[in-house]
This record gives sequence, structure tokens and C-alpha cells, in this order.
Amino acid sequence: MKFHIITFGCQMNVHDSDWLTRALESRGWEVADENSAQVYILNTCSVRDKPEQKVYSELGRVAAHLKRDENMFAAVGGCVGQQIGKGFFERFPFVKLVFGSDGIANAPNALERIAEGADDRVALLDFVSIYEERENPEERTVTMPESRQAFVNIMQGCDNFCSYCIVPYTRGRQKSRHPEAVVEECRALVKSGVREITLLGQNVNSFGKDKGGVGVSFADLLHSVAGIEGLDRLRFTTSHPKDIAPEVKAAFGELENLCPSLHLPMQAGSDLVLKAMRRKYTIEHYLSIVDDLKKARPDISLTTDLIVGFPGETEEDFAQTLEMVERIGFESSFSFKYSDRPGVAAVNMEPKVEAKDAKERLMRLQTLQNNITKKCLENLEGRETVAFIEGKSRQQRGDYTWWKGRDPAGRIINVEMEESDGLVGLMVPVRITEAKNHSLLGKRIGKPW
Ligand code: 5AD
Ligand code: SF4
Repeated sequence: MKFHIITFGCQMNVHDSDWLTRALESRGWEVADENSAQVYILNTCSVRDKPEQKVYSELGRVAAHLKRDENMFAAVGGCVGQQIGKGFFERFPFVKLVFGSDGIANAPNALERIAEGADDRVALLDFVSIYEERENPEERTVTMPESRQAFVNIMQGCDNFCSYCIVPYTRGRQKSRHPEAVVEECRALVKSGVREITLLGQNVNSFGKDKGGVGVSFADLLHSVAGIEGLDRLRFTTSHPKDIAPEVKAAFGELENLCPSLHLPMQAGSDLVLKAMRRKYTIEHYLSIVDDLKKARPDISLTTDLIVGFPGETEEDFAQTLEMVERIGFESSFSFKYSDRPGVAAVNMEPKVEAKDAKERLMRLQTLQNNITKKCLENLEGRETVAFIEGKSRQQRGDYTWWKGRDPAGRIINVEMEESDGLVGLMVPVRITEAKNHSLLGKRIGKPW
């Protein structure tokens, strides 16, 4: 069977789609482009309203392809799959499988049965309370990415129930993976040539604090993975501020290969809004975490998520968000207008902020952020760093080839080099020569390794 996966949303979804690709390939299925696939799989996101609308328009597009052959079908997985579930069967008769993030472990079997005609429609929507181990380190490393970077799941789901968020309803309760399984997978990846690993979870700081926990904390896990010989860079995402342990903050000063960057969603700069969001920390607490992190690792680069226009947010609350963004100096941030999600607590919170006010706040916030980002990047001009090369830059000019890499904090660095191939997956020592709006330019100052 030829299949085509379309992925929306977060890194967790990207990673799930990669897993599904490998699992289907190991059964003899083949990746195909949109025009020649027989099975279309949409891995979806419903964290905000727009991504959900995209799923419906994508399904409309897929419907046109499906006219080629009556045996072709589609599957919808991820958060919208979980949320709308069997509703898809009625609205889009060509959808034969729906699955949520807990159901994905059984999706390859279900797809095979549907393709063979053994099953007509399947819904994998049950939540599990223990992480279902589906990773196969051996299988995983056969398709080692050329980039030599890999994502490793450490948990699934979330128990926090922030009042705006649909994730606990679509991804279910938090389920930690067994730490040994995580370390074993990381070891296998490094052995096969991976140099950078990102540990993934909805809230990695509460790793181990659920039924699947075995007394190993997230800090312990970080130490074990960082200790794998040959691992050059270690990252993790996402962190909830309320759960970041002192040992995790300290790890930034202790583990050399733990990259000096942290994505720490603040969401809002006003205590009143944070309370209504049920984030369970205050701005004072958030600032103390930033202080601790900077003490442990003075060059740490902080990034964040922000929501504007949360129900009840006043102009004064919003001004506090701007103030905090400026004070902390986030290198970059993802900012969103609050959007009502079905079933979350904030749906019933009043007063709603007018769309035009939310839009205007978002613009003001993003303008401020762009200025801060530019300043942060300009401060780096003249410094030496190491770029981990991911591929060729989009823009090519001049005599040589421009390559795109990342510095340890994850900033994009473009470097012009004589080589026209063979640099992906190598580290190149560079001097930062110029700051662009969202990236850096560098000059090579040493041999790639
Ligand atoms: N409206 C707007 N933004 C949201 N996010 C999560 N839920 C909502 C919502 N209902 C944002 C948060 C989160 C990021 C992944 O998406 O900022 O950190
Ligand atoms: Fe959603 Fe809050 Fe869980 Fe993040 S921590 S996934 S925002 S409920």
C-alpha cells in the first residue's frame, strides 16, 4: 500500500507521524506523494481553532484524490481525531479510521486490516493509563536521519487542565514512559550516529509523577541521557514553570551537552490572568525561576508561549504581559489570540475580549518581540560558536554554498562554505558576523567535525 501522511501541530505530532511512517514501512507499506497515495493519514491538532478548520479543508482536498479508486481511504489521527471521533465517519464517508494519541500504537494494525478488507471502520479512541511502549530502538535506527538529530518521547498526555487548554481532553492523562526504555532508545540512536536528541513530552518536568513513575525524576533522566557517550547536544520540551525542579535548573550548569536554551511558556504577565488560566504560579515565581536559570547558565536563551485576549484580560493586564516580555527579554516567543475550545473551563469565563482588541494586542506584542529578538541577535555579533549543520540554506547567493545550521541555543545560523555537499550532520566552528531579523550569519573559523 502507498500512504501519505499530512501532519499538523506540535513536535509531538511530528514525532508520532515519523513513528507511524516507520511502523508502516516495516510492514511493507510505501511512502508516496499526494498524487499517487492510496491511503491518506491526517495527524491533526486542535489546540487552537484555526488548525481544526484546516483539517476539514484538507479532508475536502483529499476527497478529490480519493475519486481515483474506490479502495482508497483516509484516516484521521491526533487531537481532532480524538475530539470528533466517529463524527468523521458521518461527515466524510471515506474516513475509515479515527485514532487519538493513545490509540496510535494500534493504528498500523487497524490500517492493515482496513486495507485488506477485514474491517470496514475502526475507531481507536480509548485512553490508556500506562504508556504503551511502541518504540523499537532497533527499527528506529535503521532510518537514522541524515541530520543526525532525533526526538524521543518520554511521556504522553497532561494532567494540568489549564483552563484554556484542550490537550488533557484529547491526549488524556499523563503517562510516563519507563526511564530505562527512554535511555535505551537514546543509546541506540547515539550508537547509530545521532548527535542531538530532544526529549519530548507535554510537561516533561512532571516526568515520573504518575502511575508509570518508578522513582526516577526528570532531572535523573536528564543526567542519564546526557551521560551517553557521543551525544553532543541534548534538549527537551515542553516545561511547565510550576513543575521545574531545582535539580533541573541546576542541570543547566552541570551538564555540558545540555543546550543553553529553555522554552518556558509564561502565557501571561498578570497574576490575575494566570490565576484564571489555572497556571498555578505567579509572576514573582516565574521571575525567580528565570533568575535561577541565569545563575546556573548565564548564556541561557529563553523562549516562551503567550496568549492574548484571555477572557477578562484588561488593557492593564496586557500591559503587564508586555512589561514582562521586555523585562525577561525572551529571545523569541509564540503568541496566540485566545480561542474558545469545546469543553475547557475558560469557555464559560466572561467577559470575552473583543476580537479587534485581541488582534491589536497581538500585533503590539509581536512588534515588541521582533525588536527584542533583533537586539538579542545583535548582541551576539562577533562571538564564536558552533553550528550544527542541518542542510543548505534556502537562499543561495555568491560563489559558494550557503549552509543552514544551529548554534547550541538553537538559533539559526547561515554560513557560506566552499563545500557544496557532505556537511549535513557536522559541527562547524563559526564566528557570528551579522544578525538578521530572525537568524544569524556566520563565517567558518575551523574544520568541520
Ligand atoms: N487559545 C489560544 N492559545 C492556546 N494555546 C493552548 N490553548 C490555547 C487556546 N485555547 C497555546 C498556549 C500553549 C500553546 C501550545 O498553544 O500558549 O502553550
Ligand atoms: Fe495544556 Fe496546560 Fe497541559 Fe500545557 S500544561 S498541555 S497548556 S493543560
